[in-house]
Amino acid sequence: MPAPQTLTLRRPDDWHLHLRDGAMLADVVPHTAARFARAIIMPNLKPPVTTVDQATAYRERILAAVPADVDFTPLMTLYLTDNTSAGEVTRAKDSGIVFGVKLYPAGATTHSDAGVTDVRHTYKALEAMQTAGLPLLVHGEATDPAVDVFDREAVFIEQTLIPLLKDFPELKVVFEHITTADAVALVREAGDQVGATVTPQHILMNRNALFQGGIRPHHYCLPVLKRERHRKAIMDVLAEGHPRFFLGTDSAPHPKGAKESACGCAGIYSAHGAIELYAEAFEQAGALAHLEAFASLNGPRFYGLPVNEDRITLVKQDWEVPGEYPLGGETVVPLRAGEKIGWRLG
Ligand code: NCD
Ligand code: ZN
Repeated sequence: MPAPQTLTLRRPDDWHLHLRDGAMLADVVPHTAARFARAIIMPNLKPPVTTVDQATAYRERILAAVPADVDFTPLMTLYLTDNTSAGEVTRAKDSGIVFGVKLYPAGATTHSDAGVTDVRHTYKALEAMQTAGLPLLVHGEATDPAVDVFDREAVFIEQTLIPLLKDFPELKVVFEHITTADAVALVREAGDQVGATVTPQHILMNRNALFQGGIRPHHYCLPVLKRERHRKAIMDVLAEGHPRFFLGTDSAPHPKGAKESACGCAGIYSAHGAIELYAEAFEQAGALAHLEAFASLNGPRFYGLPVNEDRITLVKQDWEVPGEYPLGGETVVPLRAGEKIGWRLG
């Protein structure tokens, strides 16, 4: 039998990750640290990470959960609120441990109730970020309950993002976890000011996956999965090797019971097999040649950070994902639970 196909990549980074806190850290950090050298850590804890002091303490708790035999650097972020001061932004830049500030429109997603009620309230902070060269990381969904859930990204682009980019032409913006052809077009047209992260679920699945044989809470995340034409528009721009789209898993663990519920939480856990899942998607699109730039080069370039020097190897071989992983005394049901992933870590 011929040896299975292998793929060697510069070690990738995850530019959008939820690690949670407390007892969960020891269960989820090792999955990410086994694959990625660095990750942008989302600040939507309860309470949110709004100050440099909180980010510093959270960073220490994450580092304490990194296994002894791996190198992993958490890149911290602050949670933007209506009250974030220009001084806190400057402190963040000077700290050397904070790499972005996250905009959650209030009410848009999990733990976003402390988020921004009106972007105009944050203009002082945005000015300071523009001056300091600290990127704004955007959860791009309109929050008006009258807007159809599937249209919220497109409406956000028109109502909020385009005006914001006009008002702050030098502010670097990462459009997080994009899900639509509209977002792809915006990023293409915006030029060097705007980059975007793409999750594995939004290139592997369309919205049919939410209702495959019944309702599928473990395929529910925000922004919600979209139509096939949107999935394809995203995969097409990645297959073209566009330099301003990069890997951000949005791996977001929730305890099994909080998802399998009458009102299940949004968030898909993918850290256990993230780079492997992206390899599947790129292979299906005939675009494996562009995986390394997406996973390991485009993110550092956008953030102005060095690329990683070491390498990982992926082997084209099926493995079966467990039904559950431990999660701080409970369990999390991972993406592909009980099913196969076609690539494994070498
Ligand atoms: C994220 C979470 O659970 O923190 N959930 C999700 O569905 N993506 C929050 C987010 O990134 O929107
Ligand atoms: Zn997220």
